[in-house]
Amino acid sequence: MQIFRIKRSKPDDFEESGLRRCLSAVDLTLLGIGAIIGTGIFVLTGIAAATLSGPAVVVSFIFAGLACAFAALSYAELASSVGGCGSAYGYSYAAFGELAAWIIGWDLILEYGISVAAVANGWSGYFNNALEGIGISLPFHLTHAPSVGGYINLPATGIILLLMVLLIIGVKESARLNTVMVSVKLVTISIFVALAFLNIHPENWTPFMPFGWFSHDLSGKPIGVLAGSSIVFFAYVGFDAVSTAAEEAHNPKRDLPIGIIASLGFCTLIYILVSGLLTAVVPYTELNVSSPVAHALKLLGLNWASALVATGVIAGLTTVMLVLYYGLTRIIFAMSRDGLLTSTFSVVNRKTHTPVRVIVICGLVMALVAGLIPLGELAELVNIGTLFAFVLVCLGVIVLRYTDPDMHRPFKTAANPLFPVLGILSCSALMAFLPVMTWYRFIIWLLIGLAVYFTYSIRHSKLAATTAE
Ligand code: ALA
Repeated sequence: MQIFRIKRSKPDDFEESGLRRCLSAVDLTLLGIGAIIGTGIFVLTGIAAATLSGPAVVVSFIFAGLACAFAALSYAELASSVGGCGSAYGYSYAAFGELAAWIIGWDLILEYGISVAAVANGWSGYFNNALEGIGISLPFHLTHAPSVGGYINLPATGIILLLMVLLIIGVKESARLNTVMVSVKLVTISIFVALAFLNIHPENWTPFMPFGWFSHDLSGKPIGVLAGSSIVFFAYVGFDAVSTAAEEAHNPKRDLPIGIIASLGFCTLIYILVSGLLTAVVPYTELNVSSPVAHALKLLGLNWASALVATGVIAGLTTVMLVLYYGLTRIIFAMSRDGLLTSTFSVVNRKTHTPVRVIVICGLVMALVAGLIPLGELAELVNIGTLFAFVLVCLGVIVLRYTDPDMHRPFKTAANPLFPVLGILSCSALMAFLPVMTWYRFIIWLLIGLAVYFTYSIRHSKLAATTAE
């Protein structure tokens, strides 16, 4: 079939896009850290420890981190060789052809779009708490979505609109703000680590694995360390966003692998440290709250530190939204440039060198979604979508080594095909531990995507047109 023959042949297929090359390896690593450390460690760690893994949540983090490490090596190889700002979408185009690329691109839109809206909801909660702390209370109706008794979650909408303006102004400016806020987030984490070391109670680690490796609770929901892994996996979502910056990096072939691997490695160490300490300072049963890190410090009687950590979380969640929002616009940009989505999305503004239209459209849609829908469970959708993308990226490495053995690969995944195969197996396993409902939602999203592809994209694809000539 024609659609399976439409493939990108080599990296040279990527023309210059009009975007400005202004990001260094350090910027990319900080972008990665900006996208990675957020809701996962500041919120989900507590919920996972209290309800799924117990103190063994640290093992859940290690497993999820390992799966990500295998995937990150594959990302690094494809980012340095295939290139392009579409991330896994672009790699799939080269490895599998257009249909797979479309599916993965559509999947990434879900991953990034829902992540931003979900994190905006978490941000709003912390922001309202901080306001209350200084004596200002926003009306209930303006801080809650209609389904939970309000009109709109205004802070969630507002923060996305603010980030929209920032991304329009420019990438370098956004990266600068990201650097400042990443520093704030890292300082607060360091404060927590230092205080926690002084308050370790080893008895809190017994029992270490109260829910076992894997089983089901009375309602049939998966529990145990492995189920914990597939939830805390959310904490790692975002390192792949580094690869969406290919066309704005000074030297993408060298700097993207550095940015991807350095940011993931750094965050994995932080997660092991923070999750291990969190369950060592307070009993895991106390951690089923929306701000477990701040809560633990409160339980230790350190109210000032708790307030400080809450401030760090606000900064931390802001950078997650900023980088994932950025990644979303660059993926849609790439799909539009290839003709699979309307060309409106790939117009670059001459003054700002940013794709203003796609930034505005994505911003308005996500602001509306974040304001009107409390996104709770949808975070699981993000995980399944991301894991699916990771599986395809690992598979892409194996396929391209076979179909294009001579391609220039500045970074090569070691022990091929062992590491990509381990990536496929571990990411598929994490997908399997997710609730059935998440699978249904994911399949529905993919079916909608296929309908769009066969009614619009297939007829407007630029590569298809070239292949047919
Ligand atoms: N990894 C990001 C977070 O934890 C999505 O918020």
